[in-house]
Amino acid sequence: MTTRALLVVSTLFALASTSCDESVAFREPDPQLDRMLEQRRVDPYDPSPVFEDGQGMRRPPDGVVAHGTERNSPPPPPTHELLDIGRARFETFCAACHGILGDGNSVVATKMPLRKPPSLHEQRLRDLPPPALVAVMENGYGLMPSYADAIDRRDRFAVAYYLKALQLSRGTKSVDLSPQDRAALEKEAP
Ligand code: HEC
Repeated sequence: MTTRALLVVSTLFALASTSCDESVAFREPDPQLDRMLEQRRVDPYDPSPVFEDGQGMRRPPDGVVAHGTERNSPPPPPTHELLDIGRARFETFCAACHGILGDGNSVVATKMPLRKPPSLHEQRLRDLPPPALVAVMENGYGLMPSYADAIDRRDRFAVAYYLKALQLSRGTKSVDLSPQDRAALEKEAP
């Protein structure tokens, strides 16, 4: 035998002798998947020697808010500070599609021929109250994904308030302004 052939034979022998233990690799078929149910674990309300109090279930740390309850928290009152935050979040997360003015003019819109991000100044959307806008951000709407993971609840209201201000700024007739506001406007844009 050549050295090379010897090498091949001894490698094969080594592989064969270290191959799997078939009795473990080929278990009896278990269509009920009982072995997954019967793993070692602590069920709810089971005792456990692992913890000093002998209980398996742990108490959440103080101040923890249960998942999902955040959505029911009451709306924060609108403030100037919140409007500024709303503008920043809107320009970061919404303007890419709805346009910096919310009018639907964006590069992304030109690439979404199926259903474009609408202008947020449409009458139907002007009529939506802030909580309804918050619901769109939380749940998504049709092709639009949810932004709940990116914008926390307070800031979703901030965006909704800013959107209301944006809608007012674009859809208000100058005759509807107070005399002072109209004078200020005419001074800026005669
Ligand atoms: C990736 C692009 C994209 C981004 C980013 C985006 N939207 Fe939208 N939005 C859409 C599209 C597309 C629709 C229309 C969806 C449809 O009709 O299927 C829409 C619809 C809406 C509507 C109308 C819902 C209705 O009742 O008709 C509102 C309000 C809205 N978006 C607000 C927002 C706000 C606020 C943000 C930022 C948090 C945002 N969108 C971010 C694409 C986007």
